[in-house]
Amino acid sequence: MSQHVSSRISGFYKRCLEERLHAIQALGLLDEEALAHLASGGGLPTAVADRMCENVIATHALPLGLALNFRVNQRDVLVPMAVEEPSVIAAASNAARMVRRSGGFSGEADPPIMTAQVQLDDVPDAEAAAARLEAARASLLAAGDAAIPRMVARGGGCRDLEARVLSAELGVLVVHLYVEVGDAMGANLVDTVAEAVAPLVQRIAGGTLGLRILSNLTVRRLVRVTATVADDALGGADVASGIARASRFAELDPYRATTHNKGFMNGLDAAAVALGQDFRAIEAGAHAYAAIGGRYRPLSTWERIPGGLVGRAELPLAVGTVGGATEVHAGVRAALQLVGAKSARELAVVLASVGLASNLAALRALASEGIQRGHMRLHERKRALGGASTAGGEPAAPPSGEGKRFAAERAEAPLAVHQAGGGT
Ligand code: MEV
Repeated sequence: MSQHVSSRISGFYKRCLEERLHAIQALGLLDEEALAHLASGGGLPTAVADRMCENVIATHALPLGLALNFRVNQRDVLVPMAVEEPSVIAAASNAARMVRRSGGFSGEADPPIMTAQVQLDDVPDAEAAAARLEAARASLLAAGDAAIPRMVARGGGCRDLEARVLSAELGVLVVHLYVEVGDAMGANLVDTVAEAVAPLVQRIAGGTLGLRILSNLTVRRLVRVTATVADDALGGADVASGIARASRFAELDPYRATTHNKGFMNGLDAAAVALGQDFRAIEAGAHAYAAIGGRYRPLSTWERIPGGLVGRAELPLAVGTVGGATEVHAGVRAALQLVGAKSARELAVVLASVGLASNLAALRALASEGIQRGHMRLHERKRALGGASTAGGEPAAPPSGEGKRFAAERAEAPLAVHQAGGGT
């Protein structure tokens, strides 16, 4: 998005779908094809779906909304989200608005280095074999590069190698090849490398060849984001302290950390789905990383600083702006145009920021009025607007005439959430 375009679009939630599209069109982010796609209601032609996977009988749709107010590394970003759970988009937008007041999110992503694994069993003297493999590093990296010449021509390729003895007794040894994959998610490239180097690995180490596949625990492809938010923006120092206490709870308790991370992934996954990313890979990597120290921990933390909070998140994030669904799915292409990330690394920083926003919104609600009241307020406002979406991230003012009518809604809203397939 160009510098002068803002991700704050006042009253977006109050407009009808057509008006929202006009507002987006006016930003000049979308090409003709993307605009036509969204104006037609989005979706996926069954003929395209039939080419994407097997045994297709129809397509399966989700609501596509926009999270507003995001500012990431000094750039305003509109975040498309595909999600069935009510209030995820509004919550992320609201939290982004609070963070925006203190400058927005900042972050950085590692170079896009994926991990290929080659497994060997029954290796005689596995430690000595590991040393031989490390000594043969140059020829193994060259063998890997030879299998992905186009990626090498684009500046990617095999960068490093590691031989890990998993069991000296059983002779189980695994070789990691670290492959830079440019702006792709990179799974296919890495699998190609793993299969290409495997015969040489076996010749050097001996033993029986096993799996040749990427690892989704992409520890050399981490993203780190941070945000500060002022007490005022949160609704006071008590709320801020409550959020810090909630964060500590998650650090101390894996049961709470799991739900904390679910809230973090709510926004990240929704954006990942809209952007055609492999959300299963993202989820697998995130939770494995959360447990990497031997105990499951929160992916993000919030710490008290004078006058506010600082939030930090770190996780592996293998995402791409090229390849996969980005090549064939018109909705994904439109979503990528909206985000405007120039690289996979930039996209990773945006997605992690969305995670941190979702997490902040959840903790703020939990540390103040509880989660259900906000859901009900959205539900109420949606009814008041005659069914228009409430994803605008505007201040969640209590509905007028709260009293009895709201009490009645209170009984109804969790049901509505449940019916929509959303867990809380
Ligand atoms: C609901 O989808 C997500 C939350 O449970 C997250 C959390 O508890 O932090 C509200």
